[in-house]
Amino acid sequence: MEHKNDCKIRIDDLNLHFADNHVLKGINLNIPKNAITALIGPSGCGKSTLLRSLNRMNDILPDVRVEGRVFLDDEDIYADTVDLTHLRKRVGMVFQRPVAFPISIYENVAAAPRVHGVSHKETLDNIVRSSLERVGLWNEVANKLRKSALSLSLGQQQQLCIARVIASEPEVILLDEPCSALDPMSTMKIEELMRQLASNYTVVIVTHSMQQAARASDYTAFMLQGEIIEQGPTAEIFTAPKDKRTENYITGRFG
Ligand SMILES: Nc1ncnc2c1ncn2[C@@H]1O[C@H](COP(=O)(O)OP(=O)(O)O)[C@@H](O)[C@H]1O
Ligand SMILES: [Mg+2]
Repeated sequence: MEHKNDCKIRIDDLNLHFADNHVLKGINLNIPKNAITALIGPSGCGKSTLLRSLNRMNDILPDVRVEGRVFLDDEDIYADTVDLTHLRKRVGMVFQRPVAFPISIYENVAAAPRVHGVSHKETLDNIVRSSLERVGLWNEVANKLRKSALSLSLGQQQQLCIARVIASEPEVILLDEPCSALDPMSTMKIEELMRQLASNYTVVIVTHSMQQAARASDYTAFMLQGEIIEQGPTAEIFTAPKDKRTENYITGRFG
């Protein structure tokens, strides 16, 4: 049988400059559908910038120049005709520190569907409930939906942030070091959650923790100074790296 290429995002010779700083250099990367791809590499190598280029979050920064193509399915997301609001609904983002809004738990999750035009109370109730169920938070918050989201623990707030992204019905979920502010138990919860999400969504995670990449991802791309040095199935990258620089990094010789 012919091999089916289930690629959700295809990055084709992407270059990005912040003013005269050449931050992403000729990036080529295929991101498989309904799997977890980890971006690893030392601090400052361009992981967050690459992640943000997948829903054009860098566009809002001054002095940014992007060349190359990023295809979501077959659509070039850098084409002039792309509607950025729609793009960011399809490709949602979760940040390093949970950024729960200082409003109720309910409204944190209902915010996005409201923006996208849902106003019917029962429909919103259902979206809020199913999104919270999806991230395993429903039982803990069902009886305090009107309480401030800031009353939750940091780990719960990060789950809430993921629920908020899910409420927009995305196809891709980007997570930028989502566990770096969390304790080990909450980290484990988020990793288990990512595993579940990968059956329905394409997940891309930036992590500085090689243990996390090795545990929690299906594919890994190793970056160094704006370039992708090596990419492939996580098991291969971690057990049989082809490039000496990858080997040095994963064995802890630098970074
Ligand atoms: N908003 C920005 N403005 C200018 N330069 C930036 C900005 N964000 C990141 N950079 C630069 O881009 C490079 C890559 O940064 P980043 O993508 O944050 O790396 P990583 O996430 O791997 O630590 C660094 O040299 C950093 O200084
Ligand atoms: Mg970063």
